[in-house]
Amino acid sequence: MKIAVSAASGRLGHAVLRALLADTGADNVVAIARSPEKVDVAGIEKRPGDYNSTDSMAAALAGIDTLVMISAPVGDWDRVVLHRNVIAAARKAGVRKLLFTSVIGNGQEQQTWFWGAQQVNRQAEADLKASGLQWVVARNGLYLEMDLRHIIHANASGVYRNVGGAGECGYITIDELAFAIARLAQDDRHNGKTFNLVGENLSQAALVQLANEVFGLKVRYETLSDEENIALLMHDEKIAVRGRDVARMLTGCFQCVRNGAFNVPSDFEAAAGRPVKTTRQMMEGLRAGLSLQIPPAQA
Ligand SMILES: NC(=O)c1ccc[n+]([C@@H]2O[C@H](COP(=O)([O-])OP(=O)(O)OC[C@H]3O[C@@H](n4cnc5c(N)ncnc54)[C@H](OP(=O)(O)O)[C@@H]3O)[C@@H](O)[C@H]2O)c1
Repeated sequence: MKIAVSAASGRLGHAVLRALLADTGADNVVAIARSPEKVDVAGIEKRPGDYNSTDSMAAALAGIDTLVMISAPVGDWDRVVLHRNVIAAARKAGVRKLLFTSVIGNGQEQQTWFWGAQQVNRQAEADLKASGLQWVVARNGLYLEMDLRHIIHANASGVYRNVGGAGECGYITIDELAFAIARLAQDDRHNGKTFNLVGENLSQAALVQLANEVFGLKVRYETLSDEENIALLMHDEKIAVRGRDVARMLTGCFQCVRNGAFNVPSDFEAAAGRPVKTTRQMMEGLRAGLSLQIPPAQA
């Protein structure tokens, strides 16, 4: 039974491929990417496939039983159409089951600047459910790696800031996500269900405190207003070149933290067959595996 992962050249794609390989033979695992040479996993078949083209995706999906469709990243394109292309391609190619990687949220995202991005995920979920394919939706929590890097970087100034305030949200590492996604893809008992893949729900201050303990940092947390946050993000060259709308969307993500939209119960154990790691365990794993440069704290 062949399982393919599409958008496989990204962070989550690589992790899901490796998680699948821990469970099944390399002959059963196929990576699909716009540029297959970017997939850095040895021993598996790699095929070209672009979400922009139903035909290219249908060709890539020949002989595939189950597809893990990693959601298309936010960009200057219509993600609803991209996801629909992949679902149509899966049907055309005779794929039996499709797992879509979505994003957590209890509906309160509608009151935030993240709603535009979230609507795309909810639309893909609806399109998948209406497709006639066997389906699973994995709603991913926020990547712990991403915010941890920002907190570690903040050691230089001693302050980590965003609009999350006292809101709590579920963080998880990409490897934990991949472990659960690989299980969901392989076990048909999960078909027809939606899973929140998150760890413990923590406030920003609690997350920073834990990072201080695990990484020996001296960082404190401060809440920003929405406009202050946009101004801060627009100072980051990588975000500034993507424009103010991206800064608004990223701010909206932490509005979701603030208003509790990302404070959802975890279905990780039901999906993965084991409890999710604690946030401390996940941080300790990252400390051991990541080459993180910790800037010295201010005197
Ligand atoms: N839960 C979270 O905290 C969180 C954080 C960040 C992002 N995300 C979302 O999670 C999803 C996957 O994340 P990731 O970490 O794997 O992202 P990533 O590392 O940025 O990878 C994005 C992937 O999407 C591929 N892609 C872009 N356009 C495509 C297209 N038209 N057809 C096929 N593939 C295409 C890229 O291919 P190329 O290599 O060819 O560019 C790359 O493989 C994205 O939707 C991302 O926005 C979630």
